Amino acid sequence: MLKAIRLFFAKAYLLFCAVLHAILEPGFEKQERIMNILSYKYRDNDVFLVSFPKSGTTWMQMTLYQVFSDGEMDIDHIRNVIPYVEEGEIGQHKKLNRRVIASHLYYEDIPKTKAKYIYVMRDLDDVLVSLYYHSKNFGYEGTFDQHIEKYFKKKYKGGVWGKHLAGWLENKKNLDVHFVKYEDLKVDFPKQLDEILSFCEVELDEETKQRIIERSSMTYMKAHQEKFDQVQYILLEENYIQNNFLRKGEVGDGKNYLSDEQKTIAQKEKENYTLAVYQ
Ligand code: A3P
Repeated sequence: MLKAIRLFFAKAYLLFCAVLHAILEPGFEKQERIMNILSYKYRDNDVFLVSFPKSGTTWMQMTLYQVFSDGEMDIDHIRNVIPYVEEGEIGQHKKLNRRVIASHLYYEDIPKTKAKYIYVMRDLDDVLVSLYYHSKNFGYEGTFDQHIEKYFKKKYKGGVWGKHLAGWLENKKNLDVHFVKYEDLKVDFPKQLDEILSFCEVELDEETKQRIIERSSMTYMKAHQEKFDQVQYILLEENYIQNNFLRKGEVGDGKNYLSDEQKTIAQKEKENYTLAVYQ
Protein backbone atom coordinates (compact mmCIF):
# COMPACT_ATOMS: atom_id res chain seq x y z
CA MET A 1 0.00 0.00 0.00
CA LEU A 2 2.77 2.43 1.03
CA LYS A 3 4.68 1.53 -2.15
CA ALA A 4 1.57 2.20 -4.28
CA ILE A 5 1.11 5.64 -2.68
CA ARG A 6 4.77 6.45 -3.24
CA LEU A 7 4.52 5.31 -6.84
CA PHE A 8 1.45 7.50 -7.35
CA PHE A 9 3.24 10.58 -6.02
CA ALA A 10 6.40 9.71 -7.93
CA LYS A 11 4.43 9.54 -11.19
CA ALA A 12 2.55 12.75 -10.38
CA TYR A 13 5.88 14.48 -9.71
CA LEU A 14 7.36 13.24 -12.99
CA LEU A 15 4.25 14.36 -14.87
CA PHE A 16 4.52 17.78 -13.27
CA CYS A 17 8.21 18.01 -14.34
CA ALA A 18 7.35 16.89 -17.87
CA VAL A 19 4.59 19.51 -18.21
CA LEU A 20 6.84 22.22 -16.80
CA HIS A 21 9.60 21.18 -19.16
CA ALA A 22 7.24 21.18 -22.15
CA ILE A 23 6.08 24.69 -21.27
CA LEU A 24 9.55 26.05 -20.72
CA GLU A 25 11.35 24.18 -23.49
CA PRO A 26 10.71 26.27 -26.62
CA GLY A 27 12.18 29.59 -27.49
CA PHE A 28 13.72 31.85 -24.92
CA GLU A 29 14.43 29.31 -22.21
CA LYS A 30 16.34 27.07 -24.63
CA GLN A 31 18.39 30.00 -25.89
CA GLU A 32 19.17 31.08 -22.34
CA ARG A 33 20.22 27.55 -21.42
CA ILE A 34 22.52 27.28 -24.44
CA MET A 35 24.03 30.67 -23.55
CA ASN A 36 24.77 29.39 -20.04
CA ILE A 37 26.37 26.26 -21.41
CA LEU A 38 28.59 28.28 -23.70
CA SER A 39 29.68 30.55 -20.88
CA TYR A 40 31.04 27.77 -18.63
CA LYS A 41 34.81 27.44 -18.35
CA TYR A 42 36.00 24.30 -20.07
CA ARG A 43 39.44 22.73 -19.83
CA ASP A 44 41.50 21.28 -22.63
CA ASN A 45 41.66 17.94 -20.86
CA ASP A 46 37.88 17.66 -20.36
CA VAL A 47 36.21 14.67 -21.95
CA PHE A 48 32.73 15.16 -23.37
CA LEU A 49 30.54 12.10 -23.71
CA VAL A 50 27.83 12.82 -26.26
CA SER A 51 25.01 10.74 -27.70
CA PHE A 52 21.45 10.65 -28.93
CA PRO A 53 19.29 9.35 -26.04
CA LYS A 54 19.18 5.56 -25.53
CA SER A 55 22.39 4.90 -27.42
CA GLY A 56 24.46 3.53 -24.53
CA THR A 57 25.31 6.76 -22.71
CA THR A 58 25.00 5.27 -19.21
CA TRP A 59 27.17 2.35 -20.25
CA MET A 60 29.89 4.75 -21.42
CA GLN A 61 29.43 6.90 -18.30
CA MET A 62 30.26 3.83 -16.25
CA THR A 63 33.24 2.94 -18.44
CA LEU A 64 34.65 6.47 -18.23
CA TYR A 65 34.00 6.55 -14.50
CA GLN A 66 36.02 3.36 -14.24
CA VAL A 67 38.81 4.79 -16.42
CA PHE A 68 39.18 8.04 -14.51
CA SER A 69 38.71 6.85 -10.92
CA ASP A 70 39.47 3.99 -8.55
CA GLY A 71 36.23 2.48 -9.83
CA GLU A 72 34.76 1.83 -6.40
CA MET A 73 30.99 2.03 -6.30
CA ASP A 74 30.86 4.42 -3.35
CA ILE A 75 28.99 6.95 -5.46
CA ASP A 76 25.36 7.90 -5.06
CA HIS A 77 24.49 8.10 -8.76
CA ILE A 78 26.47 8.10 -11.99
CA ARG A 79 24.68 11.27 -13.14
CA ASN A 80 26.17 13.11 -10.18
CA VAL A 81 29.66 11.94 -11.12
CA ILE A 82 29.35 12.52 -14.86
CA PRO A 83 26.62 15.16 -15.13
CA TYR A 84 24.83 16.42 -18.20
CA VAL A 85 25.98 19.88 -19.22
CA GLU A 86 22.46 20.80 -20.31
CA GLU A 87 21.33 20.20 -16.74
CA GLY A 88 23.69 22.96 -15.65
CA GLU A 89 26.29 20.96 -13.75
CA ILE A 90 29.89 20.59 -14.84
CA GLY A 91 31.93 20.65 -11.65
CA GLN A 92 34.55 17.92 -11.41
CA HIS A 93 33.45 15.14 -9.07
CA LYS A 94 35.99 14.41 -6.35
CA LYS A 95 36.29 10.78 -7.41
CA LEU A 96 37.45 11.65 -10.92
CA ASN A 97 41.02 12.49 -11.88
CA ARG A 98 39.73 14.08 -15.09
CA ARG A 99 36.46 15.86 -15.75
CA VAL A 100 33.90 14.04 -17.88
CA ILE A 101 30.82 15.89 -19.11
CA ALA A 102 27.82 14.11 -20.61
CA SER A 103 25.46 15.62 -23.16
CA HIS A 104 22.68 14.85 -25.61
CA LEU A 105 23.16 18.17 -27.41
CA TYR A 106 23.17 18.49 -31.17
CA TYR A 107 26.55 19.30 -32.67
CA GLU A 108 25.47 22.88 -33.37
CA ASP A 109 24.70 23.47 -29.68
CA ILE A 110 27.68 21.78 -28.02
CA PRO A 111 30.42 24.08 -26.73
CA LYS A 112 33.26 24.00 -29.24
CA THR A 113 36.41 23.48 -27.18
CA LYS A 114 39.84 21.86 -27.42
CA ALA A 115 38.63 19.01 -25.23
CA LYS A 116 38.07 15.43 -26.36
CA TYR A 117 34.61 14.34 -27.47
CA ILE A 118 33.45 10.74 -27.39
CA TYR A 119 30.31 10.26 -29.46
CA VAL A 120 28.42 7.02 -28.87
CA MET A 121 25.83 5.95 -31.42
CA ARG A 122 23.35 3.13 -31.89
CA ASP A 123 21.11 1.94 -34.71
CA LEU A 124 17.80 3.82 -34.89
CA ASP A 125 15.61 0.70 -34.79
CA ASP A 126 17.07 -0.36 -31.44
CA VAL A 127 17.04 3.22 -30.12
CA LEU A 128 13.31 3.41 -30.88
CA VAL A 129 12.56 0.28 -28.87
CA SER A 130 14.73 1.45 -26.01
CA LEU A 131 13.03 4.87 -26.07
CA TYR A 132 9.63 3.23 -25.85
CA TYR A 133 10.54 1.28 -22.73
CA HIS A 134 12.21 4.34 -21.29
CA SER A 135 9.00 6.34 -21.73
CA LYS A 136 7.07 3.52 -20.07
CA ASN A 137 9.38 3.86 -17.06
CA PHE A 138 8.27 7.46 -16.92
CA GLY A 139 4.59 6.57 -16.97
CA TYR A 140 3.84 6.44 -20.73
CA GLU A 141 0.79 4.25 -21.24
CA GLY A 142 0.39 4.26 -25.04
CA THR A 143 1.29 1.42 -27.39
CA PHE A 144 4.61 0.89 -29.14
CA ASP A 145 3.02 1.98 -32.45
CA GLN A 146 1.67 5.20 -30.93
CA HIS A 147 5.05 5.96 -29.46
CA ILE A 148 6.92 5.34 -32.67
CA GLU A 149 4.41 7.40 -34.65
CA LYS A 150 5.09 10.32 -32.33
CA TYR A 151 8.80 9.98 -33.06
CA PHE A 152 8.25 9.77 -36.82
CA LYS A 153 6.10 12.91 -36.64
CA LYS A 154 9.16 14.61 -35.12
CA LYS A 155 7.38 15.15 -31.84
CA TYR A 156 10.05 13.57 -29.69
CA LYS A 157 11.65 16.38 -27.72
CA GLY A 158 15.01 14.60 -27.61
CA GLY A 159 15.28 15.44 -31.32
CA VAL A 160 15.84 13.53 -34.55
CA TRP A 161 18.31 10.67 -34.47
CA GLY A 162 19.49 11.12 -38.06
CA LYS A 163 20.04 14.85 -37.68
CA HIS A 164 21.93 14.27 -34.42
CA LEU A 165 24.29 11.71 -35.94
CA ALA A 166 24.73 13.61 -39.18
CA GLY A 167 25.86 16.78 -37.40
CA TRP A 168 28.38 14.94 -35.30
CA LEU A 169 29.69 12.79 -38.14
CA GLU A 170 30.14 15.85 -40.32
CA ASN A 171 32.07 17.59 -37.52
CA LYS A 172 32.22 20.92 -39.32
CA LYS A 173 34.42 22.59 -36.71
CA ASN A 174 36.95 19.76 -36.61
CA LEU A 175 36.48 18.94 -32.96
CA ASP A 176 38.60 16.10 -31.60
CA VAL A 177 35.91 13.41 -31.80
CA HIS A 178 36.14 9.67 -31.33
CA PHE A 179 33.10 7.70 -32.53
CA VAL A 180 31.97 4.58 -30.71
CA LYS A 181 29.23 2.30 -31.97
CA TYR A 182 27.04 0.52 -29.40
CA GLU A 183 27.07 -2.50 -31.72
CA ASP A 184 30.89 -2.61 -31.68
CA LEU A 185 30.93 -2.35 -27.89
CA LYS A 186 28.76 -5.44 -27.79
CA VAL A 187 30.99 -7.37 -30.20
CA ASP A 188 34.40 -6.53 -28.79
CA PHE A 189 34.35 -4.32 -25.71
CA PRO A 190 38.08 -4.74 -24.86
CA LYS A 191 39.07 -3.51 -28.35
CA GLN A 192 36.75 -0.50 -28.04
CA LEU A 193 38.13 0.21 -24.58
CA ASP A 194 41.69 0.20 -25.95
CA GLU A 195 40.65 2.69 -28.63
CA ILE A 196 38.99 4.94 -26.04
CA LEU A 197 42.09 4.80 -23.83
CA SER A 198 44.38 5.63 -26.70
CA PHE A 199 42.08 8.50 -27.78
CA CYS A 200 42.15 9.89 -24.22
CA GLU A 201 45.92 9.28 -24.06
CA VAL A 202 45.60 7.12 -20.99
CA GLU A 203 47.76 4.09 -20.28
CA LEU A 204 46.48 1.47 -17.87
CA ASP A 205 47.82 -1.86 -16.71
CA GLU A 206 46.05 -5.11 -17.57
CA GLU A 207 44.57 -5.53 -14.11
CA THR A 208 42.89 -2.13 -14.25
CA LYS A 209 41.59 -2.84 -17.74
CA GLN A 210 40.10 -6.11 -16.53
CA ARG A 211 38.37 -4.23 -13.71
CA ILE A 212 36.91 -1.75 -16.21
CA ILE A 213 35.72 -4.53 -18.51
CA GLU A 214 34.10 -6.44 -15.68
CA ARG A 215 32.43 -3.40 -14.13
CA SER A 216 31.15 -2.09 -17.46
CA SER A 217 29.28 -5.35 -18.04
CA MET A 218 25.51 -5.48 -17.93
CA THR A 219 25.71 -8.02 -15.09
CA TYR A 220 27.83 -5.78 -12.88
CA MET A 221 25.83 -2.67 -13.69
CA LYS A 222 22.55 -4.44 -13.00
CA ALA A 223 23.89 -5.44 -9.61
CA HIS A 224 24.25 -1.70 -8.92
CA GLN A 225 21.12 -0.67 -10.77
CA GLU A 226 20.16 2.11 -8.36
CA LYS A 227 23.32 4.05 -9.34
CA PHE A 228 22.25 4.17 -12.99
CA ASP A 229 18.45 4.28 -13.06
CA GLN A 230 17.19 7.68 -14.18
CA VAL A 231 13.95 7.57 -12.24
CA GLN A 232 15.97 6.63 -9.20
CA TYR A 233 18.17 9.66 -9.83
CA ILE A 234 15.17 11.98 -9.78
CA LEU A 235 13.71 10.25 -6.78
CA LEU A 236 16.93 9.75 -4.87
CA GLU A 237 15.47 11.63 -1.97
CA GLU A 238 12.34 9.48 -1.97
CA ASN A 239 14.30 6.25 -1.75
CA TYR A 240 12.10 4.80 -4.46
CA ILE A 241 13.73 2.10 -6.56
CA GLN A 242 12.84 1.48 -10.19
CA ASN A 243 14.41 -1.52 -11.81
CA ASN A 244 13.95 -1.08 -15.52
CA PHE A 245 16.58 1.39 -16.69
CA LEU A 246 19.17 -1.18 -17.63
CA ARG A 247 16.84 -3.20 -19.74
CA LYS A 248 18.09 -5.81 -22.23
CA GLY A 249 21.06 -4.13 -23.88
CA GLU A 250 20.84 -6.05 -27.15
CA VAL A 251 21.66 -5.36 -30.77
CA GLY A 252 19.00 -5.93 -33.43
CA ASP A 253 15.99 -6.19 -31.12
CA GLY A 254 14.40 -3.34 -33.08
CA LYS A 255 13.76 -5.77 -35.95
CA ASN A 256 11.45 -7.76 -33.64
CA TYR A 257 9.37 -4.72 -32.77
CA LEU A 258 9.12 -2.53 -35.86
CA SER A 259 6.55 -3.35 -38.53
CA ASP A 260 7.75 -3.45 -42.16
CA GLU A 261 6.25 0.00 -42.66
CA GLN A 262 8.03 1.40 -39.58
CA LYS A 263 11.30 -0.17 -40.71
CA THR A 264 10.90 1.56 -44.08
CA ILE A 265 10.33 4.95 -42.42
CA ALA A 266 13.34 4.41 -40.13
CA GLN A 267 15.42 3.36 -43.15
CA LYS A 268 14.38 6.58 -44.94
CA GLU A 269 15.64 8.64 -42.00
CA LYS A 270 19.00 6.89 -42.28
CA GLU A 271 19.11 7.50 -46.02
CA ASN A 272 17.92 11.13 -45.76
CA TYR A 273 20.85 11.93 -43.54
CA THR A 274 23.16 9.76 -45.66
CA LEU A 275 24.34 7.84 -42.65
CA ALA A 276 26.60 5.28 -44.24
CA VAL A 277 27.36 3.85 -40.80
CA TYR A 278 23.81 2.52 -40.47
CA GLN A 279 22.73 1.66 -44.07
P1 A3P B 1 17.89 -1.24 -24.01
O1 A3P B 1 16.73 -0.40 -23.57
O2 A3P B 1 17.82 -1.63 -25.45
O3 A3P B 1 18.14 -2.41 -23.14
P2 A3P B 1 21.22 5.31 -22.52
O4 A3P B 1 22.12 5.10 -21.36
O5 A3P B 1 21.84 6.17 -23.60
O6 A3P B 1 19.88 5.80 -22.09
O7 A3P B 1 21.01 3.90 -23.22
C1 A3P B 1 20.26 2.90 -22.56
C2 A3P B 1 20.46 1.57 -23.28
O8 A3P B 1 21.79 1.10 -23.02
C3 A3P B 1 19.50 0.52 -22.76
O9 A3P B 1 19.20 -0.32 -23.88
C4 A3P B 1 20.37 -0.20 -21.72
O10 A3P B 1 19.92 -1.49 -21.40
C5 A3P B 1 21.70 -0.22 -22.48
N1 A3P B 1 22.85 -0.48 -21.58
C6 A3P B 1 23.17 0.14 -20.43
N2 A3P B 1 24.24 -0.43 -19.86
C7 A3P B 1 24.63 -1.42 -20.71
C8 A3P B 1 25.68 -2.39 -20.67
N3 A3P B 1 26.55 -2.45 -19.66
N4 A3P B 1 25.77 -3.26 -21.71
C9 A3P B 1 24.90 -3.21 -22.73
N5 A3P B 1 23.89 -2.33 -22.81
C10 A3P B 1 23.75 -1.45 -21.80
